Amino acid sequence: TLDRINVAIDGPAGAGKSTVARMVAQKLSYIYVDTGAMYRAVTWYLIRKGIKPEDHDNVLQTVRNMVIELIPGQEVQRVLINGEDATPHIRSLQVSGLVSQYAGIESIRTRLSHLQREMALVKGVVMDGRDIGTTVLPDAEVKIFMTASVEERALRRYKELKDKEQVSLEQLENDIAQRDHLDQNRKISPLRRAEDSILLDTTSMDIAQVVETIVSHCRSYVGGERNHL
Ligand code: CDP
Ligand code: CDP
Repeated sequence: TLDRINVAIDGPAGAGKSTVARMVAQKLSYIYVDTGAMYRAVTWYLIRKGIKPEDHDNVLQTVRNMVIELIPGQEVQRVLINGEDATPHIRSLQVSGLVSQYAGIESIRTRLSHLQREMALVKGVVMDGRDIGTTVLPDAEVKIFMTASVEERALRRYKELKDKEQVSLEQLENDIAQRDHLDQNRKISPLRRAEDSILLDTTSMDIAQVVETIVSHCRSYVGGERNHL
């Protein structure tokens, strides 16, 4: 079995992070942590309470008193906010459309990054998000920055959603491009590639190829460490 290391996977929406991260975790018998789901769950809760992103005092108060629980699982990871399961609601277009605004708020980022670091203390964690390699786990042993063209990313989302929601490919391209822009340009821990990360353009790679590539980086990291002893 593989020695326990932490794996950070970052990149823009639709790059394949969560699908791939979950499979890498399964292969290595590691825990998968989806940090995007945490930002989405907090967003869902605040929208429902009618608290707008610009209402900073109210956001701060609510986030400070919030009980956030993450329950890792093989298929879906569940996020509970004050005991309520947010999971069924967090992929809606409404949440997707607003999450990047809430994710730019300092009090939310501080709270969630802290929780994420705690979850990684055990080692043997695959965590995906936007700022994992740069800010949350700068010491992660393997860091991947996963990208794909905007067109390809929108197409992947479209295939996922077309039977469930009324969306057009064009709308998804716009949504993704706008989220990329907000995520890359926010003041606190913007989406950017860590200098020591491995760049993986998945535009013409299938899921199995991406998983294999990452698993082999993990194995050679662990093998390399052992050779140094
Ligand atoms: O699955 P998708 O790539 O569409 O998004 P996600 O990973 O679920 O993340 C949703 C949003 O949460 C992102 O667009 C970011 O605004 C925010 N996020 C973040 O700011 N930092 C993270 N570590 C993870 C997500
Ligand atoms: O988490 P993130 O937003 O980065 O992407 P995802 O939700 O894991 O993947 C978006 C969609 O692209 C899923 O339906 C995946 O099955 C698909 N995908 C793909 O077709 N080819 C890849 N190399 C990776 C993901």
